Amino acid sequence: MIQELSYVGFASPRFDEWREYGPNLLGAKLAGEGPDGAVRLAIDDVNYRIALHPGETDEFLYAGWGMANETDLRAYADQIGERGVVVHWGDESLCKEREVAELAWFCDPWGLRHELTWGKTATPNSFQPGRVMRGGFVTGDQGLGHVVFQVPSLVEANAFYADILGFRLSDRIINDHFNVRFYHINGRHHSLALAELPGHVGFNHLMLEYSSMDDLGRAIDLLRRNNTEIMQTLGRHTNDLMTSVYIGTPSSLQIELGYGGLVVDDLSWVARTYNKPSYWGHRYTRTAMESAPGIIRPIDQLP
Ligand SMILES: [Fe+2]
Repeated sequence: MIQELSYVGFASPRFDEWREYGPNLLGAKLAGEGPDGAVRLAIDDVNYRIALHPGETDEFLYAGWGMANETDLRAYADQIGERGVVVHWGDESLCKEREVAELAWFCDPWGLRHELTWGKTATPNSFQPGRVMRGGFVTGDQGLGHVVFQVPSLVEANAFYADILGFRLSDRIINDHFNVRFYHINGRHHSLALAELPGHVGFNHLMLEYSSMDDLGRAIDLLRRNNTEIMQTLGRHTNDLMTSVYIGTPSSLQIELGYGGLVVDDLSWVARTYNKPSYWGHRYTRTAMESAPGIIRPIDQLP
């Protein structure tokens, strides 16, 4: 089974701005460059977990999912292959670029690329936050954080992500504005969420969780200095209990900066349906209302 969200990659014409945005605002560590000049960010001792590649348009490129070991990776790749997923094995240069031992990749029904890996390289005691921080990022056995995709059909998406890939449903939020499913693969309440947006596919946000409330508060203090807009005000989610703020980035996707997310125990977990996303806050700002909700494409314009 998949054990963690391990890394993510995007392309953007403004990729270079993440050299400032990543360390100065998020508190990530600048972690060298990829072979194409990609800006790499680390949020713990894993050598890097976020890559911004140069590109002509803002694009979601890949999500990397960590498996326990090579036996699990190969068995899982075989298993989803038998269910009709076309699995490709990454060559040596791709494994070297991602700094993993082995890699297999496939696309979801709408072309979102996922990479299955094991053995991502970490350098002990290498993480230094890019700005003053009291704590650091919550990773460890909860992985990088979470990613949220927009999909044209939640029924079709659930058939792929849950029934074939094995993501475990945490809960749903359904009301007149939302139809979202949340999935866990470890203790983190969700490493993946899928939001229905008829006719579209996209990447909405990446969530990074701080281990100290002060580091979240400090990020909010630093927004203006870093020319960054709030997309949803500080609030607390009903399902994962995360206290968080949603902010813009140089590259259309949003980042949710959170603190205090719920850890779930899969053995006793029962999925609920909520009718509100938040107990309080998370108000959409004017900037959010006037911009696209992430990197989205109409499905009739997919390559
Ligand atoms: Fe989120």
